[in-house]
Amino acid sequence: MRAGKAPPSPALLIDLPKDGPGPLQTRLFEALRRAILEGRLAAEKPLPSTRALAEQLSISRNTVVAVYELLTSEGYIAGRQGSGSYVLPTIPDRFLAAPQSHTESGKKQVTRRKSRLAAELMSNAVASGKHVLFDPALAALEAFPIDLWSRLVAKHSRRLSRNALGYASPHGLLSLREAVAEYLRLARGVRCDPDQIFVVSGSQQGLNLVCAALLDPGAAVAVEDPGYPGARAAFRMARTHMTPVPVDDEGLNIAALQRAKHCQLAYVTPSHQYPLGVTMSLDRRLQLLDWAAKKHSWIVEDDYDSEYRYHARPLSSLQGLDRSDSVLFLGTFSKVLFPALRIGYLVVPKNLVPVMLRVREALDIFPSSLNQAALAEFITEGHFARHVRRMRVLYAQRQKWLLHSLERYASGWLEPGETGSGLHLAAFLKAGIKDTDVFYLAAERGINAKPLSQCYLGKKKRQGLILGFGGGDRASIFAAAEKLGKVIREVAKSEKTD
Ligand SMILES: Cc1ncc(COP(=O)(O)O)c(C=O)c1O
Repeated sequence: MRAGKAPPSPALLIDLPKDGPGPLQTRLFEALRRAILEGRLAAEKPLPSTRALAEQLSISRNTVVAVYELLTSEGYIAGRQGSGSYVLPTIPDRFLAAPQSHTESGKKQVTRRKSRLAAELMSNAVASGKHVLFDPALAALEAFPIDLWSRLVAKHSRRLSRNALGYASPHGLLSLREAVAEYLRLARGVRCDPDQIFVVSGSQQGLNLVCAALLDPGAAVAVEDPGYPGARAAFRMARTHMTPVPVDDEGLNIAALQRAKHCQLAYVTPSHQYPLGVTMSLDRRLQLLDWAAKKHSWIVEDDYDSEYRYHARPLSSLQGLDRSDSVLFLGTFSKVLFPALRIGYLVVPKNLVPVMLRVREALDIFPSSLNQAALAEFITEGHFARHVRRMRVLYAQRQKWLLHSLERYASGWLEPGETGSGLHLAAFLKAGIKDTDVFYLAAERGINAKPLSQCYLGKKKRQGLILGFGGGDRASIFAAAEKLGKVIREVAKSEKTD
């Protein structure tokens, strides 16, 4: 049962100027969204019915229904249309929101306990910054050759010429772009020259750059459902409208994409779908490229961890198959080296280079030079390739430990999904168990098992957990799996008696 007594009076909670600019529907959407983000409409509290809100604001009920539908599709609220809607516990723009206190509800103990740690873990789209096991964003940071890296940074720091202290190209350092272009050509079949590459501060900035250069507010963007919350945050911040497109075991469902209203851009993770882990089949890749060519739409290919493919060669990129200059290829060193480096790259079709240059200059002009120089040498001297080879062996081993430990402690409760690549896997919960309940209780015990349902925008949500195995040794993976198994059983028991 959802918490709450009488619905709050909407007139007190939202700020809807009578004759503001823009259509009423947009203004109401923004007013409600702001009330949610600022905590005036608190998480898990019921919203007024569409009829009540329409009456109190003296507007048409159809407008309110349309706005509730939009808020639902963007992940702010859930429930039945109208009186049954409530604010979701994890609002999507959480990085903008002030910290919220979770009020006590009539719910059972296991679902009610939401400590500060749990709220922090849930609220971060990407990573908590804390070393908490199963965090999908954790890499094996202890295995990174930090001494070697420090020597390279120190060397380049000593060598900084006066020229290097001034302004540089908005593209990023040429030596790094040359190294990346060569690596992408060999490892990912990407076809580009260094001038098509923009060095960015992680994929996240790459997405911001794409939005600023290509999408006006209100533009329609197709996103995978379930999909990567970080990308959705970027599209949301750019005020675009997202259309969730379902993913099956061949990747994005292109038939559903074709049936959807026209989208200017589709964001996909074809090498390793986030979070389900499936690889997009060649047939689907070709269909997607065909869709983009015919519709004159863009595709953003987020290739965030394809270096780690365990049973087969990494698949070539979508970009390498593209013949109509539709694909923008996005990569990052966050998974393959370490996230605090904040270096990624965006490869754009040649005709987009001028607009990207202008936007880059307006954003942060160019990326900081020192780490780029160190990274260029790290790649050209072969340290990067060596590190990837070592890590692939280590992660394959860690994934095996995770699978064995789940088999031992959660068999019958948690069914692992795709395991072919990456640093995380999605595992599906036995029917009837809510993943958010498992998440909150597990977080109390120091485990960050992200709920799969939170990655969905559409109505159909699978219940499961996203388990990262990159950051744990054998003992910690087994210990965490044992705790997780107990948590799931406790939640199952409490939900049965609820
Ligand atoms: C799908 C996806 N893309 C990109 C990233 C990396 O983002 P960034 O390069 O901004 O650190 C992640 C990290 O978890 C991810 O899961």
